[in-house]
Amino acid sequence: MTAQYQVHGDIAVITLNNPPVNGLGLATRRAVTDGLAQANADTAVKAIVLTGAGKAFSGGADIKEFDTPEAMREPNLLSMILAIENSAKPVVAAIHSVCMGGGLETALGCHYRIAAPGCNVALPEVKLGLIPGAGGTQRLPRVLGVEAALNMIVSGEPVKSELLASLPGQKLFDKLAASAESLLEEALIFARSIADARPLPLVRNLKCKHPQGDAYFQFARNMVKGMAKNYPAPLKCVDAVEAATKQKFDAGMAFELSTFLNLMWTPESRALRHIFAAERAASKIPDVPADTAQRAINSVAIIGAGTMGGGIAMNFLNAGIPVKLLEAKPEALERGLATIRKNYEAQVAKGKLKQDKLDQRMGLLSTTLSYDDLGDADMVIEAVFEDMGVKKSVFQELDRVMKPGAILASNTSTLDLDQIASFTQRPQDVVGTHFFSPANVMKLLEVVRGKATAKDVLATVMALGKKIKKTSVVSGVCDGFIGNRMIEQYGRQAGFLLDEGCTPAQVDKAVEKFGFAMGPFRMGDLAGNDIGWAIRKRRYVEMPGMKYSKTADLLCELGRFGQKTGAGWYDYQAGKRDAVPSALVEKMVVDHRASLGITPRKISDEEIVQRLVYAMVNEAAHILEEGIASKASDIDMVYLTGYGFPIYRGGPMHYADQVGLFNVVQAMQRFAQNPLDDAAFWTPAPLLAKLAAEGKTFN
Ligand code: NAI
Repeated sequence: MTAQYQVHGDIAVITLNNPPVNGLGLATRRAVTDGLAQANADTAVKAIVLTGAGKAFSGGADIKEFDTPEAMREPNLLSMILAIENSAKPVVAAIHSVCMGGGLETALGCHYRIAAPGCNVALPEVKLGLIPGAGGTQRLPRVLGVEAALNMIVSGEPVKSELLASLPGQKLFDKLAASAESLLEEALIFARSIADARPLPLVRNLKCKHPQGDAYFQFARNMVKGMAKNYPAPLKCVDAVEAATKQKFDAGMAFELSTFLNLMWTPESRALRHIFAAERAASKIPDVPADTAQRAINSVAIIGAGTMGGGIAMNFLNAGIPVKLLEAKPEALERGLATIRKNYEAQVAKGKLKQDKLDQRMGLLSTTLSYDDLGDADMVIEAVFEDMGVKKSVFQELDRVMKPGAILASNTSTLDLDQIASFTQRPQDVVGTHFFSPANVMKLLEVVRGKATAKDVLATVMALGKKIKKTSVVSGVCDGFIGNRMIEQYGRQAGFLLDEGCTPAQVDKAVEKFGFAMGPFRMGDLAGNDIGWAIRKRRYVEMPGMKYSKTADLLCELGRFGQKTGAGWYDYQAGKRDAVPSALVEKMVVDHRASLGITPRKISDEEIVQRLVYAMVNEAAHILEEGIASKASDIDMVYLTGYGFPIYRGGPMHYADQVGLFNVVQAMQRFAQNPLDDAAFWTPAPLLAKLAAEGKTFN
């Protein structure tokens, strides 16, 4: 049952019932139109109330129907709304909790609307690269006025019902109920009060004008252009609302629909819709049922108060979870504590945090130098030096002191989690929580699943990730996990490009033009070039056959580790972060090239981007094949939330799907012909080759 039909005296009540948010899928739409027909056929019924069961009036379109033909099957949203408008008996929408997208458009098709306070009202389609497609752009300005409606449509942000009800002259709500609890009762009384009133009021018949229309829409376009440069939808929202003011209702509706359908095909909307689904899918682990019992995490201990430990601690303090911080030496503890306080103080100075919140958060933080003080914590996260010997001694101590059932997590970025787990008698309780720097800011959390990690530990850590507002993605154990394993291939290509003829600035510019927040060399300078250097030194021993450009090593030999040393691939003025191209580095690159006997060639931006991005895609295909990631969309989430991949391109796997895997493979075969590149690497991963041959996609 996706909607229930009941009769209360002379009023029929249709209650949407399609959890979790009463999405308007085909079955629900049918149940609504059936209910309308039944109510209209019943002579005892004088009016109809449309409401929602549970946590929402309606959240709008059913995401399960996204991109399927079901969405357009009759009755589609437009025809359901038309059926409501055409009902011979008045329909009253009784709105509470959530009224968004198609849910709001449905309410706008009703003859009357009564809302509970506290309801979130929105047309969020723009966040999916779309405009509302079932009358939202035509009806909302008619009830709210052009400016208030356009603000809601362009931003997609929810506005509280009581605020909307207080807008002068608004016709969105006929009445604001006293509370969500009394909503239905008040709606029934209201329905009886208007049951005999004719003609039935229709939003479509209201006037829609702006006194300075042309000037206002020009202003709106200028504002929107500045804010949404890579996205076409926000400007289309302005066009559609303008159409509501200049065209007859039905013509405006036709304009809205054709604009909506055109936007559905844009790469930006496809990317945003993909991300919407990918975000939800990331929290689902194929062999860990959603109802897996979780362990309670009411307190957390953190080992190491360095760069990562401090940032990790802040996540939990922000979420109201007490943290005990352990360090090896009192000075290190002092330093760590001071950094956390300084970070919070900076937020207070910027007005982002209130002083009492700072005090509250710092009040949840305690410190110790002794493992014996940690035993009661429900979870412990280790963030000490990246050295297996140090990790071993820490995990042996944790095994000794932590209470049974406590979760033992490591923030290691490169070490073998299974080996770390083997230092304890309880490998089932050991998991990786790979935060990204700065850990209090970056959204991504790679949850590393060891071969013994228990399912309830995984379920608990995924839920905890949500609580601390991270996007959590599960990764199996391998060197670099998902994100860093791929970025290594990207970095290797960046190095080859220097050897073949590029400057660091040329590579960065091409990648930034593609939409990355930062090119590989600027990113290296930010993260510290010494990190990659340490990894390569290990590789030279472990994998002597692996080919690297030597330029990055030469750079590090000069002590140019990046921003922290005031010089890296670029020069930096004291206290500034602006990357200034360095004559010294450019000469170093040229000299190295000459020493290899390479004649430089002109390399196009297209080749730069393809080599860097496809290198990641090929590595990702191996990662998928090995089961390190359970789905391609997880890899996209890692890159979107942890590595600055352009949102409007949907992540590397989605992007490759859009380019066409056949084309990606063709390009790789071209790159394999380049004697200065790594031909073996460019052999397409078997999964990629197979999908390309079958004309399929990753996602
Ligand atoms: P860091 O050097 O800034 O901090 C490490 C802290 O651990 C130091 O304060 C040190 O005094 C303390 N420590 C060392 N041995 C200890 C012991 N036996 N008991 C207690 N405290 C001890 O290092 P960072 O950057 O915070 O890295 C920590 C871990 O996080 C490493 O495993 C690293 O690979 C990982 N990681 C680092 C990232 C980064 O960007 N820095 C990103 C993701 C992971």
